[in-house]
Amino acid sequence: MKITQTRLQLSLFLISFLWVAFISTPNSFAQNPAPLVQGIVNRRTISLNGEWHYIVDPHEEGNARRYYLNGKPYGSRDFVEYGFNTAPTLRVPGDWNFQRPELQLYEGTVWYQRSFDYHVKSNTRTFLYFGAANYRARVWLNEKPLCDHEGGFTPFNCDATAALQDGANVVVVSVNDTRRPDDIPSVRPDWYNYGGLTRDVLLVEMPHEFIQQYSVELDRGRLNHITGWIKTTADSPALQKVTVRIPELKLSTEAIADQQGLLRFSFDPPKLELWSPERPKLYRVEIASATDQIAEDIGFRTIETRGTDIFLNGKSIFLRGIDMHEEPVGRAGRAHGEDDARSLLSFAKELGCNFVRLAHYPHDESMVRMADRLGLMVWSEIPVYQGVDFKNPQTLGKAQQQLTEEITRDRNRAAIILWSVSNETPKSPERNTFLQQLIKTARELDPTRLITSATNQTNSSVPHKKVFDDPLIADLDVFGVNEYIGWYEGVPADLDITTWATPYDKPMIVSEFGGEAKYGLHGPVTRRWTEENQEEIYQHQIAALRKIPFLRGTSPWILKDFRSPHRNLPQLQDGFNRKGLISENGERKKAFYVLQKFYRELAAQASSGGL
Ligand code: GCU
Repeated sequence: MKITQTRLQLSLFLISFLWVAFISTPNSFAQNPAPLVQGIVNRRTISLNGEWHYIVDPHEEGNARRYYLNGKPYGSRDFVEYGFNTAPTLRVPGDWNFQRPELQLYEGTVWYQRSFDYHVKSNTRTFLYFGAANYRARVWLNEKPLCDHEGGFTPFNCDATAALQDGANVVVVSVNDTRRPDDIPSVRPDWYNYGGLTRDVLLVEMPHEFIQQYSVELDRGRLNHITGWIKTTADSPALQKVTVRIPELKLSTEAIADQQGLLRFSFDPPKLELWSPERPKLYRVEIASATDQIAEDIGFRTIETRGTDIFLNGKSIFLRGIDMHEEPVGRAGRAHGEDDARSLLSFAKELGCNFVRLAHYPHDESMVRMADRLGLMVWSEIPVYQGVDFKNPQTLGKAQQQLTEEITRDRNRAAIILWSVSNETPKSPERNTFLQQLIKTARELDPTRLITSATNQTNSSVPHKKVFDDPLIADLDVFGVNEYIGWYEGVPADLDITTWATPYDKPMIVSEFGGEAKYGLHGPVTRRWTEENQEEIYQHQIAALRKIPFLRGTSPWILKDFRSPHRNLPQLQDGFNRKGLISENGERKKAFYVLQKFYRELAAQASSGGL
């Protein structure tokens, strides 16, 4: 008797669970975003930034309770147990962690809602554009599912044309930043997991047929041959008449459709001022089709390697860099927008940098556009960081998607010279295959830039002898090495006796070195956490590195102390990784001036034709 009753209860439970999970929750998702639209900053946009209502949803109730219905009762009940219009608000763009003390350490789902008025226009396609949402986002407009996206540092846009109403509209977005082993990044990044709508949210209005993506750059290794392509939404690109003009150079040409429907063009500009850190020249490029036009400020430069050397515009160059996380100076939370970009990059300029490594994920678009304007070359990276699920094809798909979104967004930024596919990934056949796939994708999407990765697996079987023989290097144009001699390994003086070698005839960038210091803490050079100890590490590092013949760049770890849940030494770290050359409030530590002196010497040598 007893057994059947249990079986009945079990099947009843299963039916009700399936009903709630899959059947009664209409609008279940998987609505991919529309292909990414490029050049948003030069498009007609309506900002949806500002105060958004929010509901914290630690138990993931919102889906089953249909929060996307924005408070409308459904089913048998005529009441709901949530509401947005009277709920508190969070500022967008911004992480939720440092806007509400109770959300500082929160990881999970937060529902965002805001209403806005919109006037529907004929012959117009309107997209809802997100600069980034960390980590998973689902978007509804007027209760209709619009799209979902995964990945916290790259943009996506959903086609809102059909769902938009003339007059009042309501957008609801659920954002979840739970860390999972098969994600990119995986579960243990040494940075703060800032959740939310961390970058701009915009409505973007386009003509019905519009210019979707485009590439305008110097052909690899040719200083006076500009080539490019344009992708439009037109069904028959061949019928499309698209012109490309560079008014300042009095250049104009028509793009011709190729087999794939890409419209291709080229120019041989008689005299072109090339983009360089010293002279970051940008030209206004205008692309116009029968129905659409877009203008973009673009710099023209070539970047190549030959042997162990790197050449910018055909001249050998040394990359004087610094690593940066996307955190503002003097304010808690995620950085975003022009002001934060200018403030961070100005510190890099003050150090004497001509290069920055944006770690470990694509930073806000305003950062790379600011680097274009200020004349800083950029290493841009996707967060394939340390232990990633290399065996999992889904995880590879996520990395591919982030790489594609990064390159699509930033392909016209002259400042970006390096795409990095990973940081400190442990050697294994699965890892090599995974990264080789990414390298292949990057080369297909952009055959003109250099491909790199920050490795840290050196063969150190002989004390004080570093051999960079990671098999991944074979697939790279430039290899990065993260080494922490004097901090995680040995003492600063070990650098004086360390030798460096590699079987590869390729340029190396020391993509990380350094040590921690608490600003204002002083003491003997041997005492960790003091400014003097950090200064000592930099002095020995610089003396050692400048002797390496195949070294073509350095980007020490890191410009500014940054938040990390891994750093919990009271009174010294207090939740911050203290390897910054400036404190979180912008106070310059002694090592700041050691690096500045080194870079000023290199700059002087470079301008006098040395190096
Ligand atoms: C690693 C890693 C960084 C980390 C740094 C550190 O090399 O790439 O993300 O913050 O070391 O330990 O400080």
